[in-house]
Formats: sequence, structure tokens, C-alpha cells
Amino acid sequence: MSQDRTTEVSEAEIAVHWQEEDYVKPSEKFIAQANLTDQAVFERFSLKKFPNCFKEYADLLDWYKPWDVILDTSNPPFWKWFIGGRINASYNCVDRHLAKHKNKTAIHFVPEPEHDAIQHVTYQELYVRVNEVSALLRGFCGLKKGDRVTLHMPMVPELPITMLACARLGVIHSQVFSGFSGKATADRVVDSESRALITMDAYYRGGQLLDHKEKADIAFTEAKKDGVTLEKVLVWQRYPGRYSSKTPLVEGRDFIMNEVLSGYRHRRIDPVKMPAEDPLFLMYTSGTTGKPKGCQHGTGGYLAYVAGTSKYIQDIHPEDVYWCMADIGWITGHSYIVYGPLALAASSVVYEGLPTHPDAGRPWRIAQELDVNIFHTSPTAIRALRRAGPDEPTKYHYHFKHMTTVGEPIEPAVWRWYHDLVGKGEAVIVDTWWQTENGGFLCSTVPAIHPMKPGSAGPGVPGIHPIIYDEDGNEIPPRSGRAGNICIQNPWPGTFQTIWKNPDRYVEQYYAKYCKNRKSRDWRDWPYFANDGALQAADGYYRILGRIDDVINVAGHRLGTKEIESASLLIEEVAEAAVVPARDEIKGRVPDLYVSLKPGLAPSEDIRRRVEDAVIREIGPIARPRRVVMVPDMPKTRSGKIMRRVLRAISNDEDAGDVSTLANPEVVDEIRRMKV
Ligand code: WTA
Repeated sequence: MSQDRTTEVSEAEIAVHWQEEDYVKPSEKFIAQANLTDQAVFERFSLKKFPNCFKEYADLLDWYKPWDVILDTSNPPFWKWFIGGRINASYNCVDRHLAKHKNKTAIHFVPEPEHDAIQHVTYQELYVRVNEVSALLRGFCGLKKGDRVTLHMPMVPELPITMLACARLGVIHSQVFSGFSGKATADRVVDSESRALITMDAYYRGGQLLDHKEKADIAFTEAKKDGVTLEKVLVWQRYPGRYSSKTPLVEGRDFIMNEVLSGYRHRRIDPVKMPAEDPLFLMYTSGTTGKPKGCQHGTGGYLAYVAGTSKYIQDIHPEDVYWCMADIGWITGHSYIVYGPLALAASSVVYEGLPTHPDAGRPWRIAQELDVNIFHTSPTAIRALRRAGPDEPTKYHYHFKHMTTVGEPIEPAVWRWYHDLVGKGEAVIVDTWWQTENGGFLCSTVPAIHPMKPGSAGPGVPGIHPIIYDEDGNEIPPRSGRAGNICIQNPWPGTFQTIWKNPDRYVEQYYAKYCKNRKSRDWRDWPYFANDGALQAADGYYRILGRIDDVINVAGHRLGTKEIESASLLIEEVAEAAVVPARDEIKGRVPDLYVSLKPGLAPSEDIRRRVEDAVIREIGPIARPRRVVMVPDMPKTRSGKIMRRVLRAISNDEDAGDVSTLANPEVVDEIRRMKV
């Protein structure tokens, strides 16, 4: 690692320091079959043609009623797409495929236990099941358009089925990552004021059938304390007909889905003709301040954008078997396991468990078994698979034509392993940069048009026009290789509509910084501020340098440092807490947690353990600190601000720079010694 360039730009953690790499060209074979090979697309999607260019994406969908206005900018930055249009996402992902594809597999479900049979849900079966669940949600729960429902489900086919059943009714789903705790779920139930919680009794992870229903009880109780009483808790069974949780059902509150569903067999529900701008789902994500933000995504614009990018960047054709090894609990899973691929009538793989279970050959056996030809995962998973089984891919007979990486920067060495071993030198790779807020890809190469460059995301995808500003709002010269804050000049249909119940934060965090005129109704005055650092190389490719705020990107998932800090402050003995990102070979970044204790208290293993437990309980195992270091005092400025920069340097064995201006410079060496 060379010297940290972050200091030039901001206090941001910069993730990549490597040089520009040589290009790798897509094969003739890939180009010959690709959906998008026409260079003219960039002209069609140029700023001059904005916003009408996005009609091309909307035309991939079936509309009950076409839109009157493609983009309404009358209340910036609350952009409204496809105004007047009516559409249903469930119809577009299911019903409309029946004519041609009813016997085709929509979802291949691969259970974690390898001896359990793979299930293949056809589009016809998906249609039947989505209708029955819709009927139940309406008939049994009284749910209707605009109501919110929290889902806390693992990676099972019932998850996309439930999402599509909600979408059919216009019920807004909010799926919480299954690895998150009951408390984290409660916070999201409360914020969204959900009427029901839909969960599962148990699921497999790392060889164990985990009790999941117990988290629903905590979620219910904690949400109630905060003033939101869930009307019902609906529990899917991992093995239908058998209850796999030790946690008892609460009479009158908890209901087994399969049992209730028997009263709704053969029922059909007409999809609700939703106004294009009505919300489809909420996806909570960590931000700079403690509270997670509910990113609200709309129906027509979102679906058009994920369908378009799935077709042109993922190169999905209806005959492809597509496997995105993300979790549906994150935005990647919503856009690129469920809505995008199913809108295009692809077969989408849902894998329940850990990629390395029972060994690092598992993903490649699945790929071979299902003849997967498009694969999508994160650098974290690639690093883990490379470490655990560098030669495993060569042992299996599968062939990918296309692979994606998403979520964090990928190191060129890891990229090459992905390309040479996993992709067998045949598959193109797209490195896709985007965020929960964005709905779909922002930067990526177009796979049959641009050569790949390891470590670089590529140019803006069609219709996305990035620009880099410095802190003071000056544009950093294009293609100069200088780092700044990446923004997008124009709105796009996939972008989130607001932060649920917090429109001010939406404006302040994403638009205020670079807005040229707050009174203007011209979108040109409202660039979207991504909160990421980036540079544009001479060839026009963007290299993403990571977050400029204090969010830690662990294994491709964003965790708010403030959330982790406030969890550790629940332990009575803790006076102050500071979390910093530490480099990790597998996960990219992991949290290091520094705590100081209240005066007179001595550090102990018991306190350390309780702090760690609190973080896991409040947020989930994904936030487990690499270390909990109990320090005599935090390094502080004279005004009392904790100097996270110094702690970050200590955690990463870097030079902490000039510490002479600290209020307590002597503590720096003391902490350094403790850590070792
Ligand atoms: C980071 C995930 C480098 C970035 C879809 C962004 C990336 C945050 C890339 C969003 C990439 C995502 N290269 N960094 N290809 N993709 N990031 O909301 O810092 O979970 O702001 O969305 O991940 O994470 P989120």
C-alpha cells in the first residue's frame, strides 16, 4: 500500500491505491450474442436526449396505461418519472411471461444442505403461489395499497414470492436482511410503521439450522415498546408442515403461513394498477448519523431501470441461467435477483447458504448442476473463495459468459483470479458501482462495447452522466485522474424517491451540497451527491475510492459507525466508543471498536464480551468488531472531538501523522502498545 491519498480530499477512507491496469477485451463469442453492441447507444442516451432516452427502458415493460409526462421536475429534487402511467411490478415479473415461458424455471432454489434436492419453481407455479399469498395478505391481514409490511426472511423462494405478492397489491415491502437482529428489525418496523411482520421459522447457515423465529419475538416486543404494535406475525416454515423453531407461537398473533394458505388455494388476485410513482418497497441502509434510512423506491421508474440495466449491463436473455450470489436482503438482491431478472423472464438462482459450505467448491458445483452462465457476486466473496479454494473452479464443468462484481472496489489480483480461474478466461466482467439509493447500476463498462480494466468501474452506464467536484463545488477537470466527490448530473428512473418520513434528510444529504440554486426547477441545478470519492482516468473510466463519510463498508455492506458506537454505549461501564475501519484481507473492511471506560473502572474480559454481544444483538453478527480495545482515553482534539483518524491509523498500522495538536498526545503511543 502506498501513502494514503485521502488526506488530500477529505477525512475519507480510501480503499484503492493501485495504478491504472491494462485492458482486457471481451471475446468475439460474447460480442456476437450480446444484447447491446451498438455504440450509438451513448448518443441516444446523451444529455441532449435526456430524459426521453429512458423511454427505451420503460418500453421493456407492459403498462396498463402509458405515461403522460416522462419526467416531472416541478418539485426538485423529488423527481417523478412516468407520470400518469399505470403499471404493476408483479404482473411484469410474472403474469406477462406465462404466454411464452410458463413452463420455464423462474427460480432455482438451492438449499444449503447439499443432499437436499434443488427446487425449480416455474413461472406458472410462481404465478399460482404469488396469487395465493396475495389473497392471504388481502383476505387474512386486510392489507391494501400503501400499507407497509416488514419481511425478515432468509434466502428461500418464499421471499421473492412474498415480495411479488405485496407488489401485486401495492403493499410496500421492507425486507430486512435475515442476519440482522430482532432489535434491528424492530427499528425498521417502527420507522416504516409496518402492520405485519413476515418471517420464517428457521434457515440453514454454515451447516446449522438456525432458529429465526426467536428474532420475531424480540422484534415484536421492541417495536411495541417504541409505539408500533404489529397486528400479525406470519411465519413461513422452512420445511412445510413441520415447525423447526424452538420458540413457541403466540396465540392470536403468530400464524403459520402454510396453514393459513390452505384457505386461499386457487385464488387469483387482479394486480392493482399502480400509479407509476407509488412506492414499491423500502430498503433501509446505514447513513452518517445513527438511524438507518428507509430508501423509498418507486414502481415504474425503478422497474424500468432494473429491467434496462439487467438487459444491457448484465446481458440477460430469457434463455440464460443467472445467479446473483447476493442476499435479497440487500438492494443488489432486490434489483438483480428478483425484479430485474424476473422482469426479463430469466431463470434466477436463489442459494440459501454460505458460499464456502461445505467447501469452497460449492458455488462451482451449483453452477455446473444448473448450467449457470451469468454469475454475479462481491469482491468479499471472491476473496474468500480464492483463499479457501484457489483451484476449485478448474475442477468443474461450467461456463460463464458474464460475471459481475459489486459493492466495493476489487483489487486487480483478485480481479485476475476471478477472470482467469472462475471465468476460465472466457467470461466478461463488469465492475458495477452504485448504491442502495440508486436502484441500479451507475458506472460500469457495457460488456460487449468497452474493454475491461481491473479495479475500475468504467464510465457512466447509458443515461448516467457523472461529474466530480471538489469540496468547494469546483468541477475537477474530466479525465484528469484527480480525486474528488463523485456526483451524477442528471436524475434517472431508478433513483430513490425520498427517505421514508424524512424528506429533509434526503435533500440535505444528497442534493444540498452541490445544488446551484435551491429555487431552481431545472434538474441541471441539482446534481446527485453520492457521498463517494472517485477519480476519472484519462480514458473516461471511473475509479471509486470509497465513502467520504463515516460509514464502514464491511463485505460490501454498509454499516453506520454511529450505530455500532451507540450499541456499545448500552454497556453501563462504557464511557465513550469510537469505531474505525480496519483493512481485512477477506472482507475489505471490518470495524475496530475502541472504548474507554467510566472513571475508576478496570478493563476486563467480561466487559469486552458484553460490548461485543451488544453490537451483535443490536445490529447483527455482520457488525462484529475485529477487536474491542479498552483504552485509557480517546485521542481528542482540544475541543473534545474524538480523533478517529488517529485510531484508524493505529488499527491499520499506519503513521498517525502529526498528533502534537491533540489534547492528549501521549495516549497515542499507549494505545498503539495495547493493540499489539
Ligand atoms: C461502495 C451496493 C467500488 C460505494 C450496491 C457505495 C463500490 C457503497 C462499488 C454502496 C464498486 C459499491 N466499486 N465501490 N463497484 N459498488 N461500492 O448501498 O462506496 O450497499 O457508495 O449498495 O458501496 O453500498 P450499498
